Amino acid sequence: MEQERVEREVKVRLENVSFYYGDFQALADVSIDFAANQVTALIGPSGCGKSTLLALINRMHEVGGRTRVEGRVLLDGRDVYDPSVDVVELRSRVGEIFQKPNPFPKSIYDNVAFGPRLKGIRKKEELDGIVERSLRQAALWKDVKDQLKKSALELSGGQQQRLCIARTLAVEPEVILMDEPCSALDPVATQQIEDTIDHLRKDYTIIIVTHNMQQAARISQYTGFLLVEETGKPGRLLEYGPTGKIFTMPDRRETENYITGRFG
Ligand SMILES: Nc1ncnc2c1ncn2[C@@H]1O[C@H](COP(=O)(O)OP(=O)(O)O)[C@@H](O)[C@H]1O
Ligand SMILES: [Mg+2]
Repeated sequence: MEQERVEREVKVRLENVSFYYGDFQALADVSIDFAANQVTALIGPSGCGKSTLLALINRMHEVGGRTRVEGRVLLDGRDVYDPSVDVVELRSRVGEIFQKPNPFPKSIYDNVAFGPRLKGIRKKEELDGIVERSLRQAALWKDVKDQLKKSALELSGGQQQRLCIARTLAVEPEVILMDEPCSALDPVATQQIEDTIDHLRKDYTIIIVTHNMQQAARISQYTGFLLVEETGKPGRLLEYGPTGKIFTMPDRRETENYITGRFG
């Protein structure tokens, strides 16, 4: 087998990032490189800032209240907080999949065509092509190809989540953030999403938050462990490295304790 190269292209880099919701500091001094075309898992107990870390990459937290970011968040070397950055474009480059599948109450087709239509694509053949490609990439095409007009809400939970993945893929993102995408799914649907993620990695950079240690070990190449060391203190990135190492010989006792289920 070809040996894994250690040096990989960095797609997203956080440099000394601290994050505040109002006066509350949620993250402190996080520095991490997310490798292109790899799956990076973020693990850690509830409240350690995993969702916050995802949100600050595509500036989704700005949808809420008053927040502040210190440090730098680089996408292909460019700071996403630079005033010249177009947030709409940023979010089309950095797509997001949520815990609960959130399809629009529209047809399967219209869900996937939604983003491309917003971008101004009107030609039927072009939209048809995008819808098919996206559904194939999300491993949903075979299930739905004969019922594209059916309401997305009639799909099973696992199919809805794959539809949401297809909807995200339709606008050709470069990075896909996934926040516990399988937490509302049964084991079979979870398996299908995991297989889908593994296929997607060759074209996309994937950052996934998961509470499922087996899942992190199965699907990711790199793992970051976040922790709030003392109640009320911000979350920190305690350890980061190749998944095999984090799960077999972590440097930190806390990582080992978390992975083996001793807390969290
Ligand atoms: N909109 C918000 N306003 C204030 N505090 C928040 C907000 N969202 C999250 N927090 C707090 O920030 C910390 C990190 O939350 P979060 O990123 O959701 O953690 P995780 O995803 O690891 O469970 C927690 O203490 C949480 O209560
Ligand atoms: Mg969360």
